[in-house]
Amino acid sequence: MNDLRGKKALVTGAAGGIGAAVVRALQAQGVAVAAADRDLSAVKAEAHLPGNLLEPAYADGLPAAAKAALGGLDIIVNNAGVITRGPVDETSDADWDLSVGVNIEAPFRICRAAIPLLAPGSAIVNVASCWGLRPGPGHAVYCMTKAAIASLTQCMGMDHAHLGIRINAVAPNEVNTPMLRTGFVRRGFDPDTAVAELGKTVPLGRIAEPEDIADVILFLASDAARYMCGAIVEVNGGKPVK
Ligand SMILES: NC(=O)c1ccc[n+]([C@@H]2O[C@H](COP(=O)([O-])OP(=O)(O)OC[C@H]3O[C@@H](n4cnc5c(N)ncnc54)[C@H](O)[C@@H]3O)[C@@H](O)[C@H]2O)c1
Repeated sequence: MNDLRGKKALVTGAAGGIGAAVVRALQAQGVAVAAADRDLSAVKAEAHLPGNLLEPAYADGLPAAAKAALGGLDIIVNNAGVITRGPVDETSDADWDLSVGVNIEAPFRICRAAIPLLAPGSAIVNVASCWGLRPGPGHAVYCMTKAAIASLTQCMGMDHAHLGIRINAVAPNEVNTPMLRTGFVRRGFDPDTAVAELGKTVPLGRIAEPEDIADVILFLASDAARYMCGAIVEVNGGKPVK
C-alpha cells in the first residue's frame, strides 16, 4: 500500500479498539492522522480534534478542521459507534437518540461536509456491522443503525463516484474491543473467558482482533481498492449471524 504514504486521514472513534488500530496502521504506512474522539489523551496522532459527535456543529466541522490541521485530507474513517442492547420494547428514548446520533447522523454529517472538500482519489470508509446486514437477536436499534450506515454507504458510493471519491464500508462480526468486553462485564462475565468461549463459535477459531478490521479498512482506503465504490466488505472469520 505504498500509495498511502504522505496522505492525510481523519479517524473518528480514534481512542476505541478498532479506531486505535486504524490510527496505528495508517501511521505505519506513512499517513498523517487527525484523531477524533471524546478523550484523546491516550492517542498518539498528528492532530487531536476532541469532541462529542452528538453535537451537530462538531461533526459538521470535523472534515474542515482535519484538513486545516493536517494541510490536506484524503481519507476519512467513520469508525465511532455505540451499541445499545434490547428489543424495541426495552429501548429508551435516550438509547434511540444516542444510537441514531452517533451511528447514523454523525457519519452522515461528516460525509456531507467532507465531499466538497475531497479531491479525486480520496476515500471514505464507514464502519457498519454484520449485524446490520442480517439482524442479530436483542439489539434492534443497533442493528437498524448499522443497516442504515450500510445503505447510506451504498448510496453515497454510487452518487459520488463521478467525483473520484470512493465510499465503502467494512462490516465486522465480533471484535475484541472495549465495546464487546464492557458488554460482557456488564452482564457479569469475565471478559477473557467470554472472548475465548465466543472464539469457539467462529469457524476460524477466534473472534477478530482490531487489527484484523484495520487492515481491511486500510485496503479500502488504498489504491488497491481503486475500483470499489459502495461496497460493504464483511470481515467475519466465516461466522454467520444467527
Ligand atoms: N466490537 C465489535 O464487536 C464490533 C462489531 C461490528 C462493528 N463494530 C463497530 O466498530 C466501530 C468501533 O467499535 P469498537 O468495537 O472499536 O468500539 P469502542 O467502544 O472500543 O470504540 C468506539 C469509540 O467511539 C467513540 N465514541 C462513541 N460515542 C462518541 C461520541 N458521541 N463522540 C465522540 N466519540 C464517540 C468512543 O469514545 C470510543 O472510543 C463501531 O462503529 C462499532 O459499532 C464493532
